[in-house]
Amino acid sequence: MIGTIGTTITEFIIAEQRRFAGATGDFTSLINDIVIACKTIASAVKYGKLSAMDVLGSTDTENVQGEKQKKLDVISNDLFIKRNEWSGYVAAMASEEMDGVYHLPKQFPRGKYLLVYDPLDGSSNTEVNGAIGTIFSILRRPGNAEGEPDAKEFMQPGTQQICAGYALYGPSTMMVLTSGFGVNGFTLDQRIGEFILSHPDMRIPEDTNEFAINAAYTRFWDPPMKRYMDECLAGKEGPRDKDFNMRWAGAMIADVHRVLSRGGIFMYPMDRKMRAKGATGKLRLLYEANPMGFIVEQAGGAASTGTERILEIQPHDLHQRCPVIMGSKNEVERVVSYHKEFAQA
Ligand code: AHG
Ligand code: MN
Ligand code: MN
Repeated sequence: MIGTIGTTITEFIIAEQRRFAGATGDFTSLINDIVIACKTIASAVKYGKLSAMDVLGSTDTENVQGEKQKKLDVISNDLFIKRNEWSGYVAAMASEEMDGVYHLPKQFPRGKYLLVYDPLDGSSNTEVNGAIGTIFSILRRPGNAEGEPDAKEFMQPGTQQICAGYALYGPSTMMVLTSGFGVNGFTLDQRIGEFILSHPDMRIPEDTNEFAINAAYTRFWDPPMKRYMDECLAGKEGPRDKDFNMRWAGAMIADVHRVLSRGGIFMYPMDRKMRAKGATGKLRLLYEANPMGFIVEQAGGAASTGTERILEIQPHDLHQRCPVIMGSKNEVERVVSYHKEFAQA
């Protein structure tokens, strides 16, 4: 059987770049390298225990955030580096799995972009053959920057992102992208090894009756979250006057992809337990919240911490964490209004 005849991701990006008179093609080439990195990770993931690399299980190491690294976390991080360090499009990289900024080896030219990524989101799902993925965000290197990029150059609010995307390794492999002109989804056609445009102009419905939250933390939630969830759970018999449905994949990427596909609200809110540990949230601002927030906003949804728009947070640390509430606009706005009312009371 022959492969799909459709728009490839490269054709699509080139067409998008033609909107900019002075475009050099660097951006298109950078996306191409990211696409190849994600296809390589997809193939490593696909064979699981059968992979020659034996990709499943844990390493003996922890990342800078004290989380045990899965083999696939480390392999994916290395694959991303190898694919992107040589090309001359990137100036430096930062990822969830590296302590500090990754400086390119001396022999490679420095480009104008900063690449930020979570090489494998939801990596604990690898043990159960659940959906996982790679999240990335592209920033422009500040214009006046000189020498090797330092962490300060990465401290740009999410509104400055040039592009954000993710590859989802599920029953099919998908790539979802935005560069600020809406959101488009591509499915990997395994027969020809190319991502083909399959989900043009993805939109999140403004209303929903589906939520995603780890309810095991209910007792730690702040009052506005408790209120919101109590009302959802009361369903038809409560003030919302409709029944809700719940889903939790345990991988933000899979949960937010569902939200993009059929609406919903995804929440990893601040809670008492995190506060007691001095944590500012669970999910990482640069590698998770900003890219997914950009995509969700571009699809007509909203992304907030409960008290502020995620994309407007001024980062001060590469590994900074923040609360995340994103998805269908009216639902996110409701949660935000409950936080406001609570603060005023
Ligand atoms: P990662 O695998 O990159 O460390 O991210 C896991 C994150 C996120 O994807 C997911 O939504 C969340 O952790 C799950 O946390 P809980 O185990 O607390 O539910
Ligand atoms: Mn993650
Ligand atoms: Mn990760």
